[in-house]
Amino acid sequence: MARWGKWVWFDGGLVEWGKALVHVMIHSLHYGTAVFEGIRAYSLSSGGIGVFRLRDHMARFIASAKVYRFTISYSLDELVNAVSEVVRANGFRECYIRPIGFINAEDLPLAPSSRRLSVAIAALEWGRFLGRAYDVGARATISSWRKAPPSTLPSNAKVSGHYSLSYLTSLEARSKGFDEALMLDARGFVSEGSGENVFIVRNGTVYTPPTHASALEGITRDTVIKLLREELGAKVIEKDLTVGELLTADEAFFTGTAAEVTPIVEVDGVKIGSGVPGSLTRKLQRIYDDVVHGRVPKYSGWIHVVKV
Ligand SMILES: Cc1ncc(COP(=O)(O)O)c(C=O)c1O
Repeated sequence: MARWGKWVWFDGGLVEWGKALVHVMIHSLHYGTAVFEGIRAYSLSSGGIGVFRLRDHMARFIASAKVYRFTISYSLDELVNAVSEVVRANGFRECYIRPIGFINAEDLPLAPSSRRLSVAIAALEWGRFLGRAYDVGARATISSWRKAPPSTLPSNAKVSGHYSLSYLTSLEARSKGFDEALMLDARGFVSEGSGENVFIVRNGTVYTPPTHASALEGITRDTVIKLLREELGAKVIEKDLTVGELLTADEAFFTGTAAEVTPIVEVDGVKIGSGVPGSLTRKLQRIYDDVVHGRVPKYSGWIHVVKV
């Protein structure tokens, strides 16, 4: 069970958990008009805590707001510092960080009178997002719900309202006994998981859906593409993937800040490869774990060190 930290950064400073409150009639609660991020901080082998790709996450936060014409009163540097404050104050050795920007006004019209966002940042202790699937591999199902095309919901923006779909797919998968859902885009090509990007390996080449297949521009997706190319010498191609290509893959895996690199071993009862986590996936899990824990100096630029 998740354990939230005592301190929340709320519009400019730290407040105690119980004081980080909003009204039931705020615009964002009714219409999903909020932007958010999910970030992980890891204990570093050198001591201290490293927030992985913090600037990139907060830059995406600002970009998500831009798509929705929201205004954020804080600069990228201020947001980065705010996350550092939350990590330092809560005293976790490792944590998941949740920044959210929302319209904190009791405003009924769909186009609110002000699009300025309140920003709150909290942290919690959180283990493996997909539980033991990290080790044994996930059993996934193709959801009956499809992702909206980018012309309907801009999938590069991480907006709360978009997540009503991930709620439906996640619920559907779990109610059928699967670990996670895979979504197809409106055209029927593979898009992504409820909260993860997806990759497959076929004949030694790695493929992932392009972002025009309604997939989020995942930061872990970007990390993994670089690690596959530079550390594991793999060829990585972004292209539309059919369900047939997915089912006949040698390996498949999810990527995400929460899920990290989680193997997929089965899709709707069809074994992926031999039905156990693939060797490239295993290698990638190890190198990803080394990188996020600061054990690979070449990638130290991705780690924002918080002194504790
Ligand atoms: C729908 C969706 N796709 C992909 C991802 C992976 O993105 P990232 O690697 O930036 O965490 C997430 C997680 O934020 C997500 O919610």
